[in-house]
Amino acid sequence: MLAPKKLMKKINRRQFIALAGAGAGGAFILSQLWKKVNSSQISLKPAINLPSLHKSNNGLLSLNLEASYSSVKLGNQQAYLLAYNGQVPAPRLEANPGDTVRIRFTNNLASPTNLHQHGLHIPPTGSADNVFLNIQPKETFNYEFTIPKNHPAGIFWYHPHRHGLVAEQLFGGLAGLFVVRGDLDEIPEIKAAKEEFLVLQDFALDGEGRLIDSSAHMSIMSGREGDLITINGKPTSSFSLPAKGLLRWRIVNASPSRFYRLSLENHPFYLIAIDGNTLAAPVEMSELLLTPGQRVEVLIKGDKEPGQYRLLNLPYNRGGMGMMGGRRMMGGRGMMGGRGMMGVNSNAPTVLATLNYDSPVKTVPLPTKLLSVPTLPKPKQVRRFELNHGMTPGVGMAFLINGKSYENQRIDTRVKLNTVEDWEIVNTGVMDHPFHIHVNHFQVISRNGKPESLRPWRDTVLVRRGETMRIRIPFRDFTGKTVYHCHILDHEDLGMMGNLEIVS
Ligand code: C2O
Ligand code: CU
Ligand code: CU
Repeated sequence: MLAPKKLMKKINRRQFIALAGAGAGGAFILSQLWKKVNSSQISLKPAINLPSLHKSNNGLLSLNLEASYSSVKLGNQQAYLLAYNGQVPAPRLEANPGDTVRIRFTNNLASPTNLHQHGLHIPPTGSADNVFLNIQPKETFNYEFTIPKNHPAGIFWYHPHRHGLVAEQLFGGLAGLFVVRGDLDEIPEIKAAKEEFLVLQDFALDGEGRLIDSSAHMSIMSGREGDLITINGKPTSSFSLPAKGLLRWRIVNASPSRFYRLSLENHPFYLIAIDGNTLAAPVEMSELLLTPGQRVEVLIKGDKEPGQYRLLNLPYNRGGMGMMGGRRMMGGRGMMGGRGMMGVNSNAPTVLATLNYDSPVKTVPLPTKLLSVPTLPKPKQVRRFELNHGMTPGVGMAFLINGKSYENQRIDTRVKLNTVEDWEIVNTGVMDHPFHIHVNHFQVISRNGKPESLRPWRDTVLVRRGETMRIRIPFRDFTGKTVYHCHILDHEDLGMMGNLEIVS
């Protein structure tokens, strides 16, 4: 149902502060909001030993995938999480362009769920990347889709996408990589590099390793963050870099809300791909900011003094309820303890991993050229999307796109297949919002009116508070209904999503 416009009271910043500062009252509204989210878990699955990598064979990738509440080891630490096939992160899937993918998926969670293939250019309908499926507990669904022959090679990932439960299920641990192999892997210097995958996740666990029910906390407004950060399911990791060689890190931020701002001691990163799209040439970066949902690929040169170097997570302030106008509104501390305010990485850098030099190899140079990056003609159609939060009737505090909270049945944007559009995404709120679109990737054309010099393709872009981002997007190959949303998944669950229909 479409809510009448006059009832849609937008609240201003001062009212918002008042509400945010309402303490118990605010928390009460939120707990009401989240009552519908049933996080009670059922039967616990013991750790199982299934393969953690599934590769396609003769054009077919076929596997069983089961989501369940599982006993999992995070390094030495015992935890009880939501897992695909008992593993956190979930098994890595690998396929080639043109391959068929069949996933026999069983939901053994206590709540409905589904599977989203983040970043893959496949149909949004039927048994493919259909986020409108509502797979009930104990139900099995057969996913099947084909990866287009011209699909870019890169890193994509899968996670639940049942509206209202996305943040909770992802925060439970449900996320895995989907790798498309191809031309990028064949560039000689990249082929010679040592390849590592880094899945970044964070968890909020109690003393027994059980998931803390985050929905009861104010933190869901900023987006839930946990103070246990893992890479590939381990709280402490070390990687090795062949001296004189190249290390290729393929990184995904699979956290529901946490931003990572990565830097590596004494080593710049050479960015080669974003969100599964290869750049024209490597770009030197001293640090990498990864919002939820985003992926980057970097090369690291083993040309420094052999030794040990630390991978750091630097502070980043993404705004939020606890930080309005620079004041703390929640009595100073984030609800999960330890890490200070929600929405702000701790004030000091933290160590995520160490990198150790390994014995030398024959020198591998950086590639000078990668793949060509096509651009699009300037379109006639321009649309505007305003990101903010506010009160909505029947819902209370919600996150809004163009003043509206998400409605399953409403089509917010209708576009024509085989057309190109410019979308202007305007963040008028007090928090940063990473904006994500399903099925088709886009290019950033300008930020705050300033043309973007480098235009890599991507599927998620950070729109900082106060910022205006212009993106250019083609609608190719597939018709049907899909979504765009903020990838702080609590914001998505709280309404910051719209339905996009692509018509022929
Ligand atoms: Cu990674 Cu709609 O999501
Ligand atoms: Cu997605
Ligand atoms: Cu957001």
